[in-house]
Amino acid sequence: MKKLTAGDPETKSADIVGSNIEALRSLFPEAFGEGGVDFEVLKQLLGAAVDERDERYGLSWHGKRRARQLALIPSSGTLIPCPEESVGWDSTQNLMIEGDNLEVLKILQKSFGGKVKMIYIDPPYNRDADVIYNDDFTDPVKNYQMLTGQIASDGRKLTSAAEASGRYHTEWLNMMFPRLRVAHSLLQKNGVIFCSIDDAEVAHLRIMMDEIFGQENFVAELIWEGANKNDARQVGVCHEYVLIYARNRESVEREWGLNKEGVEPVLREVARLKKLHGADHETASAELAGWFRANKAKPAFANRRFRNIDDRGAYKEDDPTAPGGRKFELRNPLNGKVIPLRPNRGWSFDQEEFNRLVEEKRITFVTETTIMVRRYLHETDKLTPPSVFYQPARSASERLNRLMGAAVFDYPKDEAIIQKFVQMACGDQSGSIVMDFFAGSGTTAHAVLMQNAADSLDRRFILVQLPEMLDESRPEQKIAAEYCLGLGRPRNIAELTKERLKRSAASITAASGSSPNDNGFRVYKLAPSNIRSWQPNASDLEGTLLANAEHLVPGRTEADVLTELLLKLGLDLCVPIARREMAGKTVHSVGGGVLMVCLADGLNQQVVEALAHGIVCWRRDLAPAGDTRVVFKDSGFADDVAKTNMAAILQQNGITDVRSL
Ligand SMILES: C[S@@+](CC[C@H](N)C(=O)[O-])C[C@H]1O[C@@H](n2cnc3c(N)ncnc32)[C@H](O)[C@@H]1O
Repeated sequence: MKKLTAGDPETKSADIVGSNIEALRSLFPEAFGEGGVDFEVLKQLLGAAVDERDERYGLSWHGKRRARQLALIPSSGTLIPCPEESVGWDSTQNLMIEGDNLEVLKILQKSFGGKVKMIYIDPPYNRDADVIYNDDFTDPVKNYQMLTGQIASDGRKLTSAAEASGRYHTEWLNMMFPRLRVAHSLLQKNGVIFCSIDDAEVAHLRIMMDEIFGQENFVAELIWEGANKNDARQVGVCHEYVLIYARNRESVEREWGLNKEGVEPVLREVARLKKLHGADHETASAELAGWFRANKAKPAFANRRFRNIDDRGAYKEDDPTAPGGRKFELRNPLNGKVIPLRPNRGWSFDQEEFNRLVEEKRITFVTETTIMVRRYLHETDKLTPPSVFYQPARSASERLNRLMGAAVFDYPKDEAIIQKFVQMACGDQSGSIVMDFFAGSGTTAHAVLMQNAADSLDRRFILVQLPEMLDESRPEQKIAAEYCLGLGRPRNIAELTKERLKRSAASITAASGSSPNDNGFRVYKLAPSNIRSWQPNASDLEGTLLANAEHLVPGRTEADVLTELLLKLGLDLCVPIARREMAGKTVHSVGGGVLMVCLADGLNQQVVEALAHGIVCWRRDLAPAGDTRVVFKDSGFADDVAKTNMAAILQQNGITDVRSL
């Protein structure tokens, strides 16, 4: 039975360097000698593409090399499940993760690498009030625990205020670079990232994203108009930006569509009237016209020309001619008569297409020779997204204040605009994963829930938010800190996020009557690994390994260890887990028998035999498509004989991948 140790890839988050090397090796095997990569050979293979000039185009700053390395170092952390803080733990596919986003993104790499369809982030813009947290190379998880007050600080400088540090852009770039680098590998091939930013850093962000994502994968720089800052000097800037990059632009859907404003409620009303009146289209159309009159103040009113109903849905009657159209003798296929064309106009179809439209009853004959064409709302309900969006910033704040019942979060983004981004990037695909790793108040999740409620699809969200402490002695944090206290929760921003998620789901259900399919979310929290020897002290590796006769960190549960195994083996956190008692011990089966885990103590000779047979039978019933890995706790075995027997019995029954922690 092989013991998993700190050196095994299974005990770490994704090894990005390792996969880079493998990718390079598969492309250029000749460039790999005994000692590693032979750059001279690689240069020859790449020919004219190699740029060896001293002066090169690009963005350079102090710490860039370190920032690049930071993205490559695997995380030694894990995520601790918190069902008691979650909603619908057993049924939900949504995740809300508390932690520093760089560590969390690395930890998610194996389970979600290449699977995320859309990322939206709204990072600190590097304005005066923004706090940029320093990353720590040597012990990032401990650094995080100190930053968030979970363990005492040893006096290290915790934060750096932008301008005061004298390295205005540098700190920000050092913070953003590794996060975007890791985010890149989380995106699926046709995935896209949207990043909000303002004038302070847009120029740098654009060049940095060009470098990380590739200039060829730049999709657009959107203008988001809406905020008039009071500090205007020469020019009153009232917009910010959203940069969009694709993982691979060639793979992204060719046409992005945006639902036209107010279409959804009309379609719902039409469906209701059709159900009510069946083939009586006249009554249904009359009632639809009345419905439009009653909704004059709503966005739906913009679609009032679609007030007729037939079997297909709601339609408007359109003129089938236009000034630049086709000029020819159009004949009515029903009687052969020529339909006259008005001067200076042409038809919007040819004879063949017209015949088809007549057959499909998409043409209204006002007279035998006067026609209109029916345009259906559900077929014209999408428009190409513009590059300028308008939404007053204040309205998002006011809505959030109403939702939360207090002004707990400054400058939230507008969920209606983020919902449009979700429509654009995810389209009609079910199961898309949408991520936001600077979640703040959780606007992105709110937008996903709204879109899911609107079109009944089941996109998932993953949020990451630092449990940034709220200090009631600071006037700007007082309301939020007291709010958390009122909830009986710790005073930090992640608590606001979770409360927002609960309230958003409830308000969507109340407003639309159609509840999102998945209203819940699972809460996980960043923490050091459950296995002591997997989080070695870098300065005393040998010492830590020897000191750990008992491997599990005290106080951690079986669920904690199971979660870490899922993450380190690259399984989805929401994969189904079943459990069975056998020989008095609990065994967990993950993903229908892909992984079977028993973390019980007291595995002596008698228990081992019964337990091994129980596992073999259960696996036979589950019949997983591939191999099964079975994991035990090393210290759970009474002695080496019991351990060897367990491995032998399982092996005799075709289970060869048996490990211990
Ligand atoms: C500008 S706010 C996002 C606001 C959000 N879009 C909304 O609508 O509410 C940025 C958030 O990122 C969080 N943050 C900053 N650094 C972080 C880090 N290293 N890891 C996780 N979250 C972080 C901050 O606490 C803050 O809440």
